[in-house]
Amino acid sequence: MKILVLNGPNLGLLGTREPEIYGKETLDDIMDALRQDADALGVELMTVQTDIEGEMVSAITKAKWYADGIILNPAAFTHTSVAVHDAIKGCMLPTVEVHLSNVYAREGYRHESITAGVCIGQICGFGSLGYRLALEALITKIGG
Ligand code: DQA
Repeated sequence: MKILVLNGPNLGLLGTREPEIYGKETLDDIMDALRQDADALGVELMTVQTDIEGEMVSAITKAKWYADGIILNPAAFTHTSVAVHDAIKGCMLPTVEVHLSNVYAREGYRHESITAGVCIGQICGFGSLGYRLALEALITKIGG
């Protein structure tokens, strides 16, 4: 089983970016821990971070040809990107949306997700644990 873990804009700044909201772990810390979980479960992970909307769209559409599912933190594109919504819908891969923070407890403009409706589910507010929960959810969904 192959899973793409795709992280959007500004997530490369994790560790120093608003640690009171996003925690002190870097994205590499989070991805390394997730890879260990995936290895133990016999799952192959591809990890990508991009600040560019078009690159996120391309990564999603290319995943159609090699991945069994996607764990996606679209970051700010969650609230703005019809293109990312369309890519998720078009690639037809089961996708779990993850947010480190509880977006529904934050500014009003974060309460709408343009992308969640084309995902199989959304996990938010659990920090880096959300990625692990998403991995378990995706494996269960794909396996079942
Ligand atoms: C985020 C939440 C988004 O609203 C924000 O733009 C991000 C990170 C999260 O993981 O909590 O960049 O996706």
